[in-house]
Amino acid sequence: MTREELIGKIERQKRNKNAIILAHNYQRPEVQDIAEFIGDSLELARKAMTTSADIIIFCGVDFMAETAVILNPAKKVVIPDRGAICPMAQQLPADSLLAAKREHPDAEVVLYVNTLAESKALADCICTSANARKIVNAMDTQTILFGPDRNLAYHAQQATTKTIIPVPEHGLCPSHHQIVMDDLLTAKSAHPDAKVIVHPECIPEVQDSADYITSTSGMVKICHEEAADEFLIGTEVGLLYRLKKETPEKRFYPISNTAVCPQMKMHTLANIETALENEEPVVVVPSETARKAKKAIERMLAIP
Ligand code: 13P
Ligand code: SF4
Repeated sequence: MTREELIGKIERQKRNKNAIILAHNYQRPEVQDIAEFIGDSLELARKAMTTSADIIIFCGVDFMAETAVILNPAKKVVIPDRGAICPMAQQLPADSLLAAKREHPDAEVVLYVNTLAESKALADCICTSANARKIVNAMDTQTILFGPDRNLAYHAQQATTKTIIPVPEHGLCPSHHQIVMDDLLTAKSAHPDAKVIVHPECIPEVQDSADYITSTSGMVKICHEEAADEFLIGTEVGLLYRLKKETPEKRFYPISNTAVCPQMKMHTLANIETALENEEPVVVVPSETARKAKKAIERMLAIP
């Protein structure tokens, strides 16, 4: 089948089945191009809640698709490649979180949305890279257990007088850890007038050297609004396709070309077509886990 035939088939299936494709900003260009909606984790969660589609084809990683199921249990959520598992989310299993909670009984728990559903079920509130600072400040306790990303914990800590304890101590995103200070200094000397925008999953030194630290869609917004016409981008390289497409008059340079998330790239036109045809693999979250996790996600969504 040619690429055009494949795309034609996907479009027909979407119409016939009242299905939509939600895609994260890191998806392959051809996947972004056939999606009804492209966004960051927070936007995708909100979109999953409000869509009138019967089937959501979720082109992102496991925790994002699970969040869509938790918020929208009546919908069928299908992930084209089941192997799209975020390694950071795996770094905080429920038993480790329970142990940390026992050690800090007076702390509330804020978890990055990049977590397993079983861990979300034990959290007081969820956050994303877009709202982590706001969420920690909105919590009731002075001490907060925060996981699994120690770099996002650092980002939140810069905006609060609360004590933030990272759980686990060394949780991180392997893709964002490819972005190191040497890369940033080299990129800055090649493009001295460029604004530097990085994701809060980057290491503290890189965050401290940036003009802006924000979520992937926050980066898109800044690039639209900033007067500058050159940008150094510190996140997974997939975002650059959207940036170049939406603001072709500006120039974008990745700080590191090796910041690639292999799990995000697992969805392809071919497996999206198969997923639409077979309506599987369906994402399932056990109902009791979903009920508890939903409370923590809804607490986040209620914070404006
Ligand atoms: P955003 O919510 O900023 O898109 O980030 C999600 C993610 O997994 C970044 O690695
Ligand atoms: Fe997980 Fe990092 Fe990939 Fe985001 S980029 S999905 S945090 S591994």
